[in-house]
Amino acid sequence: MSYRTVNNGELNKSYLNKVVKLCGWVQKIRNLGGMTFVDIRDRYGITQLVFNVDKNPTLFEEARKLGREYVIKVEGTVILRNSINRKMPTGEIEVEVNYLSILNKSKTPPFTIENETDGGDDLRMKYRYLDLRREPIQNNIILRSEVAFHTRNYLRTQGFLEIETPFLIKSTPEGARDFVVPSRLNKGSFYALPQSPQTFKQLLMVSGYDKYYQIVKCFRDEDFRADRQPEFTQIDCEMSFVEIEDILNMFENLIKEIIYKVKGVKIDKVPRIKYSESIRDYGTDKPDIRFEMKVKHLNSVCKGKGFNLFDSSETIVGIVVPGGAEFSRKQIDSLTDWIKKPQIGCSGMIFCKFNTEGRHKSSVDKFFNNEQLESWRSESGANNGDMILILAGDEKSTINAIGLLRIELAERLKLRDPNLFKPVWITDFPLFEFDEKSKKYHAMHHPFTSPNDDDVELLKNDPLKVKAKAYDMALNGTEIGGGSIRIFNKGLQNEVFNLLGFSDVEANEKFGFLMEAFEYGAPPHGGIAFGLDRLCAVISGSDSIRDFIPFPKNNSGKDIMLDTPSKIDDDQLKDLGINID
Ligand code: AMO
Repeated sequence: MSYRTVNNGELNKSYLNKVVKLCGWVQKIRNLGGMTFVDIRDRYGITQLVFNVDKNPTLFEEARKLGREYVIKVEGTVILRNSINRKMPTGEIEVEVNYLSILNKSKTPPFTIENETDGGDDLRMKYRYLDLRREPIQNNIILRSEVAFHTRNYLRTQGFLEIETPFLIKSTPEGARDFVVPSRLNKGSFYALPQSPQTFKQLLMVSGYDKYYQIVKCFRDEDFRADRQPEFTQIDCEMSFVEIEDILNMFENLIKEIIYKVKGVKIDKVPRIKYSESIRDYGTDKPDIRFEMKVKHLNSVCKGKGFNLFDSSETIVGIVVPGGAEFSRKQIDSLTDWIKKPQIGCSGMIFCKFNTEGRHKSSVDKFFNNEQLESWRSESGANNGDMILILAGDEKSTINAIGLLRIELAERLKLRDPNLFKPVWITDFPLFEFDEKSKKYHAMHHPFTSPNDDDVELLKNDPLKVKAKAYDMALNGTEIGGGSIRIFNKGLQNEVFNLLGFSDVEANEKFGFLMEAFEYGAPPHGGIAFGLDRLCAVISGSDSIRDFIPFPKNNSGKDIMLDTPSKIDDDQLKDLGINID
């Protein structure tokens, strides 16, 4: 005897008068005199069951004993509903039950299992298995499965092999802290969990597996952000005998394919923007290009007019708000408050409304006359009727802040259309950045990234000028992937390690295995990794990746359901040779 012959999302008029079996969870019970209606739910949908006292009094009594989230099995006849519900796929019919069995009872759930639930974050995390029953979360998990399926399908047709790499490894330098695992058999020694399979995929290239991919967990002990989790999943890929162009073509087609398959949206062209231009025009290396509002550089028209703030600032930049002359004082004040939040860190913002009759109005009218304000308008390309918002300060933080303001404005003006998908490649990254705190060079991507062929000479005397064969893909303002063509020559790799501050001995201790492999016929190679969680979140128009991960960690890296990280037994500690006072 089968539990069910149909699911709860399936029945419609074509099943009229058929006898069906259904299983699922009780979503809702409505008692109306001699009738009891029960909504039964599974991941496919909801079906209305009806129990009629006149037709079956015993069953009617049984139905009155049901509670929310009970697991039940029923058999019955599909009949037409009296009042049709057009909003539900199964809304034309109901099932008149002739058999009911309670497979399991349920305590009353701590929050409602509805699209709009009354459960707070912590409660939903503690009972994640109940939260996962809710339709919006289920849709996210189903989307994730679809994205993974289409990824595998595409890469397989392109000749990629799916190959696993180990989780108990030695540190990989992706710029975060490692999670470490103590070794019982080698007391005092530790494995690191991979921040990515970077070194292994390069070794696989040395081994001749020239098209590799893996959908793989990565572990990074980083500070929390909405688009970061300590364990997350990458679509990790590597290819041999390729140039940048080969990688960009292969993987923009992957992203196009995924978006087409899961959203039905065709993307024609993925534009390419150089890193320096992206910073200049968008204030970020992950621009949202669904809308224009590029950053305007205003030093030439703002400086030297006796206004101290401008005269003492390294950088003066603005954003033109189309139609912004209509903004109210309240709207501007709210933006000023926003820009002063610690995460943005500006001390203030200057505005100028370009009025239609040509008499401009700014927050610094005392210092600038109409003619000067008019030069702001022409320099920024604004029209009368627009407004410009201006920030001034040191270059790095001001550019960063104007990039954030651009996004915030677009959000407020509803310019970030969730149904538009605009991927963009960012190229020509510098190989290194200089960290003022540690006075050290850092790899912008990671230490295995190849410098541009023409720039290798600059490594010796001007490393900050060296451009990398690296690329990121941003989608709607989020970095969804990044990669590079790799160094495959021991000498060059050593030179880069030295610049990053590793002595030959340290480099050998950490990456000797890779450097040695380079001496056994390493092919030219390169690759990329996409963040699967982020990709799913962006495709769904969400900022937070948490709802796309079945069992995520909370803001402080905890799993509230498991109550972990947690203490371990003294015996276990002793076995591992770990002493905690
Ligand atoms: P990278 O460090 O840029 O590159 O990571 C690739 C992509 O992984 C995603 N990502 C994250 N997603 C969620 N939580 C995190 N903490 C997190 N960190 C990164 C992002 C990012 O674009 N080995 C290289 C790739 C290569 O060179 O081939 C790497 O890991 O979407």
